[in-house]
Amino acid sequence: MLTGHKLKTLQELIAASTKEEIAWINGYLTGLVSNEHPNGNGNGHSTAISNGNGHSLATGVKKISLAYGTETGNAKKLATSLAAVAKKKGINAKLVGLDQYKITDLPKEEYFFVVISTQGEGEPPLPAKKFYDYIHENQLALPDLKYSVLALGDTSYPLYCKTGEDVDARFQSFGAKRVVELQKCDVDYEADAQHWFEKVLNTLESATGSATPIAKPLTPAEKKPAGKKYYTGIVNTNINLNDRGSNKQTFHIEISSEEKVEYEPGDALAIVPENKKWVVEKILQLTGIDRTIEIQTAKKTASVEQLLTKHLNICYLLSSAVKNYASISGQEIPDTRMDLVDLLRIYPVKNPEQFAEVVKILPAIAPRLYSISSSPSAHDGEIHLTVGKHSFQAKNEERFGLCSEFLGELPVGTVITFYIHKNRAFKLPSPDKDLIMIGPGTGVAPFRSFLAERDATGASGKNWFFFGEQHFTTDFLYQTELQNFVSIGVLTNIDLAFSRDQAEKIYVQHRMLEKANELFKWIDAGAYVYISGTKDPMSKDVENVLLQIIQEQGNKSIEEAKQYLDKMNDEDRYEKDVY
Ligand SMILES: Cc1cc2nc3c(=O)[nH]c(=O)nc-3n(C[C@H](O)[C@H](O)[C@H](O)COP(=O)(O)OP(=O)(O)OC[C@H]3O[C@@H](n4cnc5c(N)ncnc54)[C@H](O)[C@@H]3O)c2cc1C
Ligand SMILES: Cc1cc2nc3c(=O)[nH]c(=O)nc-3n(C[C@H](O)[C@H](O)[C@H](O)COP(=O)(O)O)c2cc1C
Repeated sequence: MLTGHKLKTLQELIAASTKEEIAWINGYLTGLVSNEHPNGNGNGHSTAISNGNGHSLATGVKKISLAYGTETGNAKKLATSLAAVAKKKGINAKLVGLDQYKITDLPKEEYFFVVISTQGEGEPPLPAKKFYDYIHENQLALPDLKYSVLALGDTSYPLYCKTGEDVDARFQSFGAKRVVELQKCDVDYEADAQHWFEKVLNTLESATGSATPIAKPLTPAEKKPAGKKYYTGIVNTNINLNDRGSNKQTFHIEISSEEKVEYEPGDALAIVPENKKWVVEKILQLTGIDRTIEIQTAKKTASVEQLLTKHLNICYLLSSAVKNYASISGQEIPDTRMDLVDLLRIYPVKNPEQFAEVVKILPAIAPRLYSISSSPSAHDGEIHLTVGKHSFQAKNEERFGLCSEFLGELPVGTVITFYIHKNRAFKLPSPDKDLIMIGPGTGVAPFRSFLAERDATGASGKNWFFFGEQHFTTDFLYQTELQNFVSIGVLTNIDLAFSRDQAEKIYVQHRMLEKANELFKWIDAGAYVYISGTKDPMSKDVENVLLQIIQEQGNKSIEEAKQYLDKMNDEDRYEKDVY
């Protein structure tokens, strides 16, 4: 048992670590004990992902490339930990983001492993788009390349792991040799990823014809839980944070669950919205189908009414779904996206039986993510969301987003089902680190969580928050709480930009420029910079201003400023949670 300063050191380390880091430490120590290497000389588990035997591979394959394509950081985090495992085995894994990857190097590669997520509606992550487009627009000859793909995705989306599948198929068509089968992973990807990498390491081992056998058979990957963890919760509060007269509606929603919901600040809650009742009624009326008829779809068997209300996407169908509709209904329909109800009005089905065929091919409703705005330490047993009612123009009228409207209308007492989307990249730094948070609008959500967590845990790092909205009087979300954080010293600095309170528009990036000198001092002294909220244009404008500040205050060229920001990114000091 530990006592005195050893116990204190351990307690300090634990207090400064995230849950994931603690899990890693646990695995590392277990590895040390089971391998009887008390000084940890390289044979312990270097990460939660391991090949299980803790021995260096006696392999002749000394070099592989491990490329990742990521949007929210999971693929990068995973690839980084896999590269560390490879290193322990004496394999130099060249770790590279697909945004940085020199595509002309591909024919020179011998072993090329790709970890890539799927985003949007079955699309590649933005940083990997150039690579993805290149391999789809060009026919390459890669007969000497050995490869495998680890695809990150989410089974709740209609096009599960589509990007990984596409990359795998393209490499096949280039004549490359797939050394390990494509591995698809749901949001709880750790065990599957570990299993895939064990197979990769085995392949590298056997590729050498080495006489040295592996010391122990590989430990089977930790048993995979049966799918992702769904929680049931009750809506306890649902209020509009904007005052009367505002152009916006932002709902503060509090959900409680009898079960302990495992999440950390920076994670998001994923929920599948229901379709609007009146739209479902209109569809039933237009098609004349009996609402109680049971239909079997790819994922679910239920009555037509249940399927149309809770399971199937009937909004803004993808052009592939419209094509399927055209072929079932035997009509010529131009390549377009459309709501099902409009499709039925313009291109009616012949009879209810034909509509039953249409129901079978409709994809599932995609989940929507909302950054959690509560903290597990400060809001015990609760999860809070900050949901902006999403509006857009279609057919010359204002429309509202399906999920944000659905959530905004949820009455108190409603029971909902959700799961947690872990955002491995967007995590609080260690408690002593300074943090600059830029989060206008609903971008405040994860930062409310960060501030509450730092307050509840007594973190010593300084915090600076840039917030913006349209009007001070109607749109200052969480005004009282933020002012309280200032008065108790949790918020060291707060800068506000209300864009429409004066003739010229003022946004958070303008406030950043006003404070350029102090901001750069914080950054150069090691502060972490996190952005949350709208991807376009907010996060891009903020990034440009950050580069300008680094350039001007740090006396750098624009190239040097970019390198500076890239380095911050590599050190996980520059992260985004944008949408
Ligand atoms: C990691 C992450 C965190 C997030 N955190 C938050 C958060 O904290 N708070 C928050 O408010 N949001 C957050 N979001 C955004 C949120 O997930 C949703 O994207 C947002 O609420 C819009 O979803 P919706 O269902 O309301 O809109 P949808 O119905 O999905 O509409 C989205 C878009 O689809 C198009 N569209 C839909 N229907 C039609 C049609 N009939 N005709 C033409 N175009 C159409 C429009 O362009 C519209 O803007 C986050 C997203 C991510 C990825
Ligand atoms: C907006 C959004 C859209 C997504 N679309 C899909 C999809 O179409 N298919 C899929 O399998 N997964 C989809 N996912 C799930 C991601 O692939 C999954 O969360 C993955 O772990 C993200 O990895 P990354 O952080 O490396 O990008 C989507 C996630 C988000 C946030």
